[in-house]
Amino acid sequence: MVQRLRVPTVTDRRGNLSSIRAGVDVPFDIARVYYLHDVPFGAERGGHAHRRLEQAIIVLSGRFVLRTHDGSGWSETEMVDPTAAVLIPRLTWRELHRFSSGAVCLVLASRPYEEDDYIRDFDRFLAEVRR
Ligand code: TYD
Repeated sequence: MVQRLRVPTVTDRRGNLSSIRAGVDVPFDIARVYYLHDVPFGAERGGHAHRRLEQAIIVLSGRFVLRTHDGSGWSETEMVDPTAAVLIPRLTWRELHRFSSGAVCLVLASRPYEEDDYIRDFDRFLAEVRR
């Protein structure tokens, strides 16, 4: 199950400042940060799950749709609020699509990039998550 987390945000007349503490606001140490930007109209990202990796996904600008499957069903979240993070546990299939122009997706990751952590085939994901 994906979980929504509030990102602590300080607001004053100069705007908003949102900050995330590893192990406090997200329940893991952050080993890696990456971001998706300049995603062309109609392009889809994701389309995989991870065996060990946990991630928190935040939209910094614009919007996109996050679809996840936890082995028992799909859920869909419109990502539009930069003060809400979505926590993606291990063994969760994710697809990101319908990126608006100028959308930026920030990802906080619990582990380094490891290609052998990916499950890129949906049927294989279902078999592993239901094992
Ligand atoms: P991928 O994880 O498939 O992207 P997405 O899930 O957003 O569609 O990664 C795309 C490419 O980027 C792939 O060649 C691996 C590379 N990559 C890195 O080099 N480092 C990273 O931290 C990540 C996430 C990907």
